[in-house]
This record gives sequence, structure tokens and C-alpha cells, in this order.
Amino acid sequence: MARGSFKSKFGVIAAVGGSVVGLGNIWRFPYIAGENGGGAFLLVYICVSLLVAVPILLGELILGRQTKTNSFGAFRAMTAPKKTLWPAVGLLGIISAFLIASFYMVISGWGVEFLALSIIDRFNGQSAAEIQQNLSAFIASGWKPMIYMAVFVAANYVISLLGVEKGIEKFTKFLMPLMIVLIGIIMLNSLSLPNAMEGVKFLFVPDFSKITPQVVLMAVGQAFFSLTLGIGAMIIYGSYVKEDVNLYHTAAAVAICDVVVAILSGLAIFPAVFSFGINPTSGPDLVFITLPNLFQQMAGGYFLSVLFFFIIVVAAITSSLSLVEVVTSFINEELKLSRKKAATIAVVAITASAALCAYSMIPDSAVKVAGMSLFDLFDSITTKYTMPLGGLLTCIFVGWVIEKRILRKQLTNNGGLGRSALRIYMTASFIIRYLAPIVIVLIFLDVLNII
Ligand code: PHE
Repeated sequence: MARGSFKSKFGVIAAVGGSVVGLGNIWRFPYIAGENGGGAFLLVYICVSLLVAVPILLGELILGRQTKTNSFGAFRAMTAPKKTLWPAVGLLGIISAFLIASFYMVISGWGVEFLALSIIDRFNGQSAAEIQQNLSAFIASGWKPMIYMAVFVAANYVISLLGVEKGIEKFTKFLMPLMIVLIGIIMLNSLSLPNAMEGVKFLFVPDFSKITPQVVLMAVGQAFFSLTLGIGAMIIYGSYVKEDVNLYHTAAAVAICDVVVAILSGLAIFPAVFSFGINPTSGPDLVFITLPNLFQQMAGGYFLSVLFFFIIVVAAITSSLSLVEVVTSFINEELKLSRKKAATIAVVAITASAALCAYSMIPDSAVKVAGMSLFDLFDSITTKYTMPLGGLLTCIFVGWVIEKRILRKQLTNNGGLGRSALRIYMTASFIIRYLAPIVIVLIFLDVLNII
């Protein structure tokens, strides 16, 4: 099958960046940082992103560009003709992608609702407490989040059927930069509120006593979630990257962009959180209750609010597309169904599971596992366990199982990148082989109380 590829280098960064930058940065980062100690969390998060996440991102891109196939097939192609268990890592990723999609679609649906409410100017005059109450009532209705979720999934379906270049590249190229500018404007407004410095301190001044194994695990989970790692999505993106693109630059640019957007959104949220007296540990609704309040205080707030929630929805779509793509390309290429059929099956299954997730978020819903909603359960299984495990195995695979010559070829573009690329290859292969796997194993052992 002929595979498409991204047209320009910027297109690659924008498309990979489009998958990476999404609700994970704007919605999940602030609330997880808020629940896990602010500055202490940020510090660990940056370290983990650089030491562990970037090498794994690089490893996945290498695998994808080398094999030009889906994540399951990539592990098989690299070990063929031997039959090994490695393709199971691809399968683990597909399961993670499915579970993440289930709750990601629901939160994206919240984004669609907030866009609709912004357009009709519903937040005008509402206090943070009122906005919070309305959001709780929305969640408790059960069916409303399902409808918004369905609208969002339908948009995914249409774009996914349009194909890679037309579907993804066009969108992200100009909306991503626009999003960063907009978050910057919101941040400046947030910083100018009374008591804003409290929020800045909360985010930047680490209280080292708060760094516990649990916080480290949450930071690893956030880094994996935010960089879309350990589920094979980046293997698929790698398969669309042309031979002359410098993978190391791509990985570094994407990771930096990801961390910067997370910090920018932290700086947009926390000063406002402290200024309005919102609790930083409010959980998943933190961003949704803080921002509408902030927009009310800003010049041109109505316009900015509509634009912002529009961009949030687009950022969510560019990310959710890669979740759908992981499932679709597996069905398409491995189960040998047409792309259209594959996308349809993926979308129907994800919608059903997402509807269950939305239903289980109703406070006294019957669908709870050990007192947890499916949203909490799926989030916790994927970010704490399956993504880091998938990432660890990918790293070991790229570092130890595939031939070194392939690693070298991919990192130096077959020698085309000159001498400096050789040094990068040496460093990267050391990190991929030793540092990153050891750090992940240590974190797992620490959390499991073994060391
Ligand atoms: N990285 C995406 C974000 O930050 C979320 C995501 C996770 C997308 C896993 C795909 C797979 O929003």
C-alpha cells in the first residue's frame, strides 16, 4: 500500500506537534500539577520529559520511519522472519490508545460545550462557583456530555477519512502557532490580576518535601500522556516522515514545544486560580471553571473566549485523530479491512466506550469500579502503567533488539547529516540503551515499594 508522507519539514513538526499538544497540556497539566504540589511537580516533570520522554519519542520515530507501518507491524517487521512476542508491545499500545480515546473524547466534548456556551455568551456575569455548579450539573445529566462527545467523535471520523496530508497537516500548520499566541495573551491577562504572584510562586517555587514516589509517577504519566508516548502513535507518525528530515531535531523541537505550552497554560491558569480563590486541587474541572471567569475580566473577553474554546477543540481533534489512527491503522493493515471500514469500526467502538465513561461520571452512577469512575480508572491505568510500560519496552527494543546500524542510519540520515549527527547518535543511543530504561524501572520499583 502506498503511504502518504508529510510535505514539508514544518509540516512534520506541526503534525507531530498537533498530536502532542492538546488537552494534555492545556487541561491535564494544570490540574495534575495543582493536585501534586505545583512547583515540585513542574521540576520533576521537566526532568522526566528530557531524560525519559525525548529518547522514547526518538525511538518511536525511528521505528516508524524504518518500517513504514503501524505500531504492531513495526515490531513484527523488525524481528521478521523470527516469530517473537515483541508485536505484543504494539498491541498493548493499541489497548492504551483505545482506553485513552474513551475519556479523551468525553473531555473534548466538554470543550465543544464550552465553545457553544461562549458563543451564546452564557458565562457573562457568572461567578466561579456558578460556573462550577453548571459544569457539575452538565456532567450529572449523563446524556448531555454524550451528545457533545458524539459530535466531537463525528468530526474525527470525517477528518480521518480524508486521509493523512489533507486531514492533519493542513489544520495544524497554522492553528498551532495561533494557539500559542492566544495562550500568551491569556497568560498576560492572568498575570495582571491582583494576587497573581501567588499563582506564579505556586508553579515555580518547588517545595522539595512534596517530591514523593507518587508525584514522580504522576509526572512520568503526564510526560507520556502529553507527548503521546508508549502507545505507538509516534511510530505511525514516524512512518510518514520523509528520509531527509532530522529526527533528532524533530523530537527535540516537539518536546520543547510541549513543555513550553504546558508552562504557558500553567501561567495562564494558576495566577487566576489564586486571584479568584479557586482551589488548585479542584481536579479535572480546574481549567473549565477558571478560564471563563478570566475571560470576563479581559478586554475583548467574549471574542477571545470563543476563539480560545474553538482552538481547544481543534487542539483536541489533532490529538484525538492520532488516537483513532492507532486503532484504525491496526484494523486496516493487520486485519486487512478497507480504511473506511476500519475507521468506522474504530469510531463506533470508541464512541460506545466513551459513552460508558460519560455515564460513569454521574456521581451515583452504577458504572463504577472500586468506587472509581471509568474516567479515573482508564486515566490511571494508562498514564501510570500501560504507557510507561509500552515506552520502556519500546526503548529496550530500539536500544537492544534492532540492529545498531539501523539506529545509526536513522539518526544520521544514512550519513547525510555530517559529523555532528554522529555525536548525537552516540549520545542518543547511550540514553536509549541505558539511561531511560533504568530511570523508568527505578521509578516503577520505587512506586511498588521494592526499593
Ligand atoms: N498528547 C495528547 C495531548 O496532550 C493526548 C494524547 C495522548 C493523544 C495519547 C494521543 C495519545 O493532549
